[in-house]
Amino acid sequence: MNTSEKKITPEAFSAIQAEIMRMTAIEIRPEKAYMIEQRLEELAVKYAGGDFLAFSDHLRKTRDQVVLDEVIGAITTNETSFFRDGHPFSCFQEKIIPRLATEARAKKAKAPQTSPAIQIWSAASSTGQEPYSIAMMIWDYLEAHRGTGVEPKDFFIRATDISSRVLEKAKGGVYQNFEMNRGLSEERKAKFFTPENGGWRLREDIRQMVQFQRVNLAELVPPSQVYDVIFCRNVLIYFNEETRMRILDRMRRALVPGGILFLGSSENTYHIDHLFRRESSGTSFVYYPV
Ligand SMILES: C[S@@+](CC[C@H](N)C(=O)[O-])C[C@H]1O[C@@H](n2cnc3c(N)ncnc32)[C@H](O)[C@@H]1O
Repeated sequence: MNTSEKKITPEAFSAIQAEIMRMTAIEIRPEKAYMIEQRLEELAVKYAGGDFLAFSDHLRKTRDQVVLDEVIGAITTNETSFFRDGHPFSCFQEKIIPRLATEARAKKAKAPQTSPAIQIWSAASSTGQEPYSIAMMIWDYLEAHRGTGVEPKDFFIRATDISSRVLEKAKGGVYQNFEMNRGLSEERKAKFFTPENGGWRLREDIRQMVQFQRVNLAELVPPSQVYDVIFCRNVLIYFNEETRMRILDRMRRALVPGGILFLGSSENTYHIDHLFRRESSGTSFVYYPV
């Protein structure tokens, strides 16, 4: 087929776009039809001989999770890096971790804890750099404040994503040089990683602070637990306004009173400002439920 030839008809685009929306809530506008062509062509060839309309039909009917995972893996944008954007992580390190450590100590002094005193959720964790950045910072803080009775096991980091493909990589905790060179200091690289087959493996004790799980943020399940901090960064941008508002409302209900929400630098609480109090912290913002 001539590569300049348009492969997806408007009808096929609408049909595929509806399937992606149903599966992931990701909105792909018509001007981004090329994304569907680029990212799904291989799968359309594999499952429907390259016919996008027939492929959308296949997606609508199939219950095969392998196929659905392949599509989700291909269509999602998984761009991430260690300590992405810097400032939210400096804010977390300087202001939030000391507060959480104090809270953990107070909780433990009051009563023996059956689960970790502090719960953190990285809600679209991609290949793991975000939750592992959080874990490394907590580790560094607790190491510098030994003897206070607070330990890494007092912190639980739940990391979720819709894509099984990125979650598998995240669980492995192995990163290539180009990923290590994005946001990670030489000091942390030497402290937390060991070379392995041309890549770098994160230390086991840091990996154990994070539990990965597949969660579709668009699914309407009530929050099963509450969190002290939620990182929901650089994912709301892919949804339409109604979905964003629904997810933010759920996040608000999933935060403890005084809990903290971090969003991506181009994201905000849109039309539900009244549900969050926004506080500036250097060049970034943190959000508190009201
Ligand atoms: C651009 S990455 C952001 C990763 C990280 N939070 C960061 O800021 O570096 C967006 C992630 O959101 C995930 N995602 C997209 N739609 C989702 C959904 N409906 N539920 C959960 N995760 C989703 C993608 O798989 C992708 O890994």
